[in-house]
Amino acid sequence: MKNEAWAGKKVMITGGLGFIGSNLAHRLVELGADVLLVDAMVPGFGGNYFNIQDIIDKVKINYCDTRDHYSMKCLVRDKEVIFHLAGSFNHIRTVNDPWTDLEINCRGSLSLLEACRNQNPDVKVIYAGHRGQYGRVEKTPINEEQVCHPLQINAVNIMAAEHYHILYNNVHEIKTACLRLTNTYGPRHQMQHFEQGVINWFIHLVLENRVVPLFGDGTQVRDLSYVDDVVEALLLAALSDETNGQVYNLGGEPTSLLDLAKLLIEITGKGGYNLMEYPDQYKLFEVGDYIADYSKIKQSLGWEPKVSLREGMSRTLDFYTKYRKHYWT
Ligand SMILES: NC(=O)c1ccc[n+]([C@@H]2O[C@H](COP(=O)([O-])OP(=O)(O)OC[C@H]3O[C@@H](n4cnc5c(N)ncnc54)[C@H](O)[C@@H]3O)[C@@H](O)[C@H]2O)c1
Repeated sequence: MKNEAWAGKKVMITGGLGFIGSNLAHRLVELGADVLLVDAMVPGFGGNYFNIQDIIDKVKINYCDTRDHYSMKCLVRDKEVIFHLAGSFNHIRTVNDPWTDLEINCRGSLSLLEACRNQNPDVKVIYAGHRGQYGRVEKTPINEEQVCHPLQINAVNIMAAEHYHILYNNVHEIKTACLRLTNTYGPRHQMQHFEQGVINWFIHLVLENRVVPLFGDGTQVRDLSYVDDVVEALLLAALSDETNGQVYNLGGEPTSLLDLAKLLIEITGKGGYNLMEYPDQYKLFEVGDYIADYSKIKQSLGWEPKVSLREGMSRTLDFYTKYRKHYWT
């Protein structure tokens, strides 16, 4: 990787105090970039001051909302790369409150892109979408060509945001690239509820020596990405012009939720699991086994996941064991 390209580069990360944003910030600080973190610290999301405690003197922070267009117009001005990670992906919450999700994912993205069009058309913007965009999976591994039929309002909004990014690339010549992430795990995730994906919640339960509830027979497959691999993909996508206007799947190590629970129990020597009937409200959103075909990004950028599930989970469990008090309350 062209690591030296990041030295002194002016980078902005929306959602910079959240899970992926803060891990990306650590890597960019290591590489010598000039980093601005923008975060509104939205309740229930993953923003956590502890996430950036050890780099606090090496980054700038602006506590503002991407929906605040006037602030965005000032903040984007001198940036060379913007990672847009201030997204909502809590599809459970969107059932009763579709508006906040629409506001954050769509209005927030438009506000940022318009600010770039007006103030900084030379910037490169990287957007993080997710696997939910595909909806029910017809066949695996799934590639970017599959038509998206989302089952969740959140996924529709993410899809719209992705389209905004591609449109600004194709029509307004703002360089953008979109990555479709799958379930991502690692240090610095919010650990207080299960509404942003199940992996962190399984980790939470096992570390508390509790039972992991598995719906059905637990054989649903998810493709799990370790956060460092995701960070690497974001960095590579930002540095290449080949990614302009493109959408790429990321993937990790596919595993069933049952095998994931067993792995966590084995590594920690704690917890247990329990098979239970699928609750009706979850059945509606179940997309089936998900395995990503990430050959497009592998071919274009040489990216592929490097951290095995066992290794990634061991690092993750060590992190939360050590820093539990900063994540449990
Ligand atoms: N974590 C995953 O497994 C996963 C999987 C697929 C896609 N993604 C995508 O990656 C992005 C980052 O996810 P994450 O796991 O880091 O989430 P996170 O909740 O940990 O971080 C998001 C951060 O964005 C901030 N934020 C939200 N709305 C904002 C707004 N309008 N203005 C400013 N800040 C705002 C929140 O306060 C939070 O700190 C999201 O867009 C998400 O859809 C995540």
